[in-house]
Amino acid sequence: MKIRISNTLIYFFGALGGLLFGYDTGVISGAILFIRQTLHLSSFDQGFVVSAILIGAIIGSAISGPLTDKMGRKKVVLIAALIFCIGAIGSALSPSTGVLILFRIVLGLAVGTASTMVPMYLAEMAPTEIRGALSSLNQLMIVIGILLAYIINYVFAPSGQWRWMLGLAFVPGAILFIGMLFLPESPRWLLKRGREDQAREILNHLRKGRGVEEELSDIRRANELETGGWSQLKEKWVRPALWTGIGLAVFQQFIGCNTVIYYAPTTFTDVGLGSSAAILGTVGIGSVQVIMTVIAVRLIDRVGRKPLLVSGSIGMALSLLLLGFIHMAFGNSAAAGWTTLIFLAIYIFFFSISWGPVVWVMLSEIFPLGIRGAGMAVGAVANWASNLVVSLTFPPLLKAVGISWAFIIYGIFGVLSIIFVIANVKETKGRSLEQIEFDLRSRIS
Ligand code: GLC
Repeated sequence: MKIRISNTLIYFFGALGGLLFGYDTGVISGAILFIRQTLHLSSFDQGFVVSAILIGAIIGSAISGPLTDKMGRKKVVLIAALIFCIGAIGSALSPSTGVLILFRIVLGLAVGTASTMVPMYLAEMAPTEIRGALSSLNQLMIVIGILLAYIINYVFAPSGQWRWMLGLAFVPGAILFIGMLFLPESPRWLLKRGREDQAREILNHLRKGRGVEEELSDIRRANELETGGWSQLKEKWVRPALWTGIGLAVFQQFIGCNTVIYYAPTTFTDVGLGSSAAILGTVGIGSVQVIMTVIAVRLIDRVGRKPLLVSGSIGMALSLLLLGFIHMAFGNSAAAGWTTLIFLAIYIFFFSISWGPVVWVMLSEIFPLGIRGAGMAVGAVANWASNLVVSLTFPPLLKAVGISWAFIIYGIFGVLSIIFVIANVKETKGRSLEQIEFDLRSRIS
């Protein structure tokens, strides 16, 4: 087997699945405004169309874990790329609400799969010193995908062509499929399956021959310690990793990130901005995300994961609490509208530099090789299920307690997340995946 692709392209295509995750989850916020007219949706149907992808993602992330432990990382991403293409065409051509919901669930299967596979593949290919940066390319692709979706929505909004908004996702889906055909399999997975020669060849290519034998022997040692299968997830020494993973995944959603991302245009108009200012504000939020994620990619291996999480939580909690109090004091006015835009931009600034990228990076790092797929799946299912709960409860919450209290509630989760990180998260910066595993084992025994 000859590897004919440069390392840069390996990391680019390795991360590209993130772009589809971002595009497919982001595009519906604008498209739904037009879908509900053409397909005459009730408000229940609307909620269903929007959240169908999350239901699919819960299922997709649950099955991708065990699948990847058996089939490898590459084949599973190839399947996901195919599903991305089928889902894009199917949802764009849907003749009825039922078919649209079905294809949005199908798309969700691929989104869930990408959410586990992409960071894991990147982490397993990357050298330790820049593993955080390379794994956070996943989140960078996600936020670029979201921004692209906002821009495409903006372009097609005047003509109301929602079918184009959904269908264009076929293009990156097809590029992902073709790119993945050329990518090598993860050397860590290969070694786990006893295919040492292939693993060595790929590592030689990735590391340009440096430190390959040492890395191989560390992975071998981690493999030897493996006691087998999913039952390992229940073992006592794995528990701290499991709790950290679930906690990170749940807090990332309960801190309210997607209420900003999915509902930004509605929030802006609700607080008194005109519709063009609202759309521009949304594109602004999308741009802040991309810029700050680029900065996070540069910081994550220097500053470390934990300091980023803590400072991100402080920034997000403060901006949410202040927003809540300002709304209480000033109600709906033009000034309150602009303050909302500014504070939500500050909130997204902090989210994008911390919890956005760090959670997916850490989920790919904290689990031992033998059950990395399974552990990652548990974290991802927790993340998508929390995403579903928060997205479905946000509109009724707004109705019940008003926008000030809604912000304050998410702000309180922000404060709790600081305590959680300080008490539970162990830094992974600068340690190889195998060292992280050996440390985890030695904490209990
Ligand atoms: C993270 C979250 C995802 C969110 C995205 C936005 O990837 O997991 O739910 O939509 O960040 O930046």
